Amino acid sequence: MADGTKPPDRPVNNRPANNGPANNGPANNGPARQELQRGGEAVYRPRYAHIVGWGSYVPEKVITNHDLEQIVDTNDEWIRSRTGIAERHVAADPKETSVTLAVAAARKALEVADVPAGKIDLIVCATTTPEYAFPATACLIQDALGADNAGAFDLSAACSGFVYGLAMARGQILAGDAEYVLVIGTETLSRIVDWTDRGTCILFGDGAGAVLVAASEVPGGILAVDLGSDGSGGNTLILPAGGSALPTSLETVSSGMHYLKMDGKAVFRFATRVMAASTRKVLTRAGYTPEEVDLVVPHQANLRIIQNSVLNQLKIPEEKVFINLEKYGNTSTASIPIALCEAIAAGKLRTGHKVVFVGFGAGLTWAACAIDWRTPIDKAEADWWKNTRRQATYSAAAARSMWRRAVRWVYDVLPDPEAKGQDARRDREETGVQEGADEEG
Ligand SMILES: CC(C)(COP(=O)(O)OP(=O)(O)OC[C@H]1O[C@@H](n2cnc3c(N)ncnc32)[C@H](O)[C@@H]1OP(=O)(O)O)[C@@H](O)C(=O)NCCC(=O)NCCS
Repeated sequence: MADGTKPPDRPVNNRPANNGPANNGPANNGPARQELQRGGEAVYRPRYAHIVGWGSYVPEKVITNHDLEQIVDTNDEWIRSRTGIAERHVAADPKETSVTLAVAAARKALEVADVPAGKIDLIVCATTTPEYAFPATACLIQDALGADNAGAFDLSAACSGFVYGLAMARGQILAGDAEYVLVIGTETLSRIVDWTDRGTCILFGDGAGAVLVAASEVPGGILAVDLGSDGSGGNTLILPAGGSALPTSLETVSSGMHYLKMDGKAVFRFATRVMAASTRKVLTRAGYTPEEVDLVVPHQANLRIIQNSVLNQLKIPEEKVFINLEKYGNTSTASIPIALCEAIAAGKLRTGHKVVFVGFGAGLTWAACAIDWRTPIDKAEADWWKNTRRQATYSAAAARSMWRRAVRWVYDVLPDPEAKGQDARRDREETGVQEGADEEG
């Protein structure tokens, strides 16, 4: 800086902590405004939430429809005509988990954005297949990335989860509470699918996608969101056992209640209705018409659902709707970010494009968002030094995590001096020996 002072690491938010300015703008484009005090003068700065990095990762192992013919009573023709799916990736290696897939995707997103993990303020991990009920998968991802300044939580909204996560990221950014939010969708659905149930095992796949959402003064970004739910349909797509309603037991396992159960027809009807309605809502809120949309990235569950909703009801032409479910099946929370990455790689997205993400899933839930895409998509030249530095930070994060675990282990095994004192006092009391008795001898 000209005056020789170091620029702050993050933009300073001098707004009073307790009362973020109300968003009184029109519903379609009213980003929160940040108030900065400079010499007693209030300055209003617009804030927008832009996707500035993206990445995806799928496990190597592919299971084709023909492979499935060997497992259940099905055939390639039936699966293709009813769903559009030809193959899916599965995490065949037990070492591949929702966390490892997510970390691989997140690292790519950070690389595209050229932002170090230490700058992330919040990690939102949308997943239906968390590593554990707790701790949150997001926390394990935070540790693996070395995102030491980030809060982290899991978001449970099933296949709508990624768009729900974007809404959370946008809210945090517009409120002035975060500069960088990492939103991840990650799934190892192959672990909760009943591979003897032809009604469900043909549909799902594993994978992860991540985006980095950043605060900016450049107008655009995530302009509008629509989130919805209808819990009355909760039982149409459900993992019955393992929660507090039906804790895991020999009985739940022997009756297969730890596998995903679905009423396919009910979900199909619901999905075709809400996909179109939610898309319409965000378009209105963003001030767009369906004709103006350049790209729709829908949840990749079933080709016929996309055709019956986005294509037929909204009359958005096929070339503007990105579909890749043929290769991945339904990867739940990961399907939209994986499709986004492929759409970008295929040159379908450019600066100035009007983009819609729309999804639906268990809950029942649905969600859509409208984006005025402003981030340049040209990939920067590979930079050897930056890559090496990045790898070094990941190794340092792994070392730091091991060190912290080691310190905790040492605290566990070392005798606690305070506890030792209490033990000695209790022993003395139990044996009737009085304080100072030894000396008095
Ligand atoms: C699951 C789904 C593909 C089933 O398609 P559908 O057209 O509704 O098929 P149906 O369930 O009516 O089954 C039709 C017939 O095919 C059979 N069938 C079902 N699965 C089959 C399979 N994998 N292979 C061959 N036949 C199959 C059924 O037994 C039924 O036979 P029948 O007529 O002799 O009784 C479809 O309902 C769907 O995609 N629903 C939405 C699911 C979804 O997206 N879930 C995720 C939400 S995030």
